[in-house]
Amino acid sequence: MNPASVRITGWGMYAPERILSNADLERVVDTSDEWITSRTGIRERRVAAAHETTATLAAIAGKRAVAVAGLEPDDIDVILVATLTPDYWMPSTGALVKEALGNTRAAAMDVMAACSGFVYAYSVADAYVRSGLYKNALVIGSETLTRFLDFSDRSTCILFGDGAGAVVLSGSDEAGGGMQGLEMTTDPDGAYMIWLPSGGSRSPVSGGTLARGEHYVRMEGRETYRFATKTMATTALKAIERAGWTADEIDLFIPHQANVRIIESVAKGLNLPMDKMFVNLDRYGNTSAASVGIALAEAVDSGRIKIGDKIVLVAFGAGLTSGGIALEWTTDPTCGARAASVEPVASVREPVEWGQVDPIPERLRQILEGEGPPVPLDDVAPGEPEHAHREVLA
Ligand code: UT7
Repeated sequence: MNPASVRITGWGMYAPERILSNADLERVVDTSDEWITSRTGIRERRVAAAHETTATLAAIAGKRAVAVAGLEPDDIDVILVATLTPDYWMPSTGALVKEALGNTRAAAMDVMAACSGFVYAYSVADAYVRSGLYKNALVIGSETLTRFLDFSDRSTCILFGDGAGAVVLSGSDEAGGGMQGLEMTTDPDGAYMIWLPSGGSRSPVSGGTLARGEHYVRMEGRETYRFATKTMATTALKAIERAGWTADEIDLFIPHQANVRIIESVAKGLNLPMDKMFVNLDRYGNTSAASVGIALAEAVDSGRIKIGDKIVLVAFGAGLTSGGIALEWTTDPTCGARAASVEPVASVREPVEWGQVDPIPERLRQILEGEGPPVPLDDVAPGEPEHAHREVLA
């Protein structure tokens, strides 16, 4: 039977302990704290420890969300993990997370829509629950982006960080609340604005791809910025209109945490003050698919959201994708305290016959240990991003 509504009943987040500050990055690329804070708003980001992976981060955030919802792990019917940094290409990170949660019965899978992943996964979970197929869905955005960054490319390595955010969506017999409006876009014109060239079927990993640094994230920053400022406001507005609301009725926006200037421009575009925009990128940087989930959990737990509030989640990312959800908040924010019962540890199944692998890239480890020579300004990786772009398009 279809529920009368689909509501957020649980939320949770996890950020690894280790902090990588702008000052740490000043030591390895030609940048400055002043440049990074004034151009992006980012002051520091988190780095997953060697024993952590996207799945372990996801499992901690997921366990917290399940605890906040007052559920047992086995009450969850479906698990969706949004990520662009999975533990492996297969199995899905969702499959590993399911076991780590202690769930024995859910369907589990990954959703790949880059930084819009949390919003996309939320929409899929909402549809399952709304249709009556499942009662409780766990949506997690989780990333270990610091393992996919070229720490000699100052235009990308300063932006991204690691973390996970989660919500539980549950069917309710009470009408009202939850998602009221949804808008999602995908614009393949911008397919190569943010991309990771090698490792897929178009360019399997080889000595050549490694030498050219094609296993790292690449980005056309200015183009992406332009897309983001245009799309975030229109996507949010479409979702708001579909809910039958107006922008000035929204109590709080939870935007993707990419750059504070992008968030400021969304506020300006919607003619709203910045205090309607939740911002925590100063502490986490851009955590891609995790960012909206982390921001939502922090917003509720810090008292910024109360029952009856109209909230907008809005994100953009590689694809190019965008997604916006206008929702009404229904759950007592004090339930967030239940997350404290969950220790920040998760045990994820190890592969069989797997030797010791150090997942921290060498250059990142040097940075974390305070070593590493400064690199020349323009080295990026041998083979400019523009080259790779043309090769793949050809
Ligand atoms: O989840 C989606 C992920 N992507 C994004 O959100 C990215 C969106 N784009 C941005 O946030 C911004 O475009 C950036 C933060 C990436 C760059 O800021 P910008 O104000 O657009 O700078 P720019 O790319 O126009 O570069 C201006 C200058 C350039 O030098 P020249 O050519 O003017 O001499 C860059 O080489 O700043 C230089 N630059 C840096 N300088 C110091 C680029 N990165 C850095 C750096 N430190 N880290």
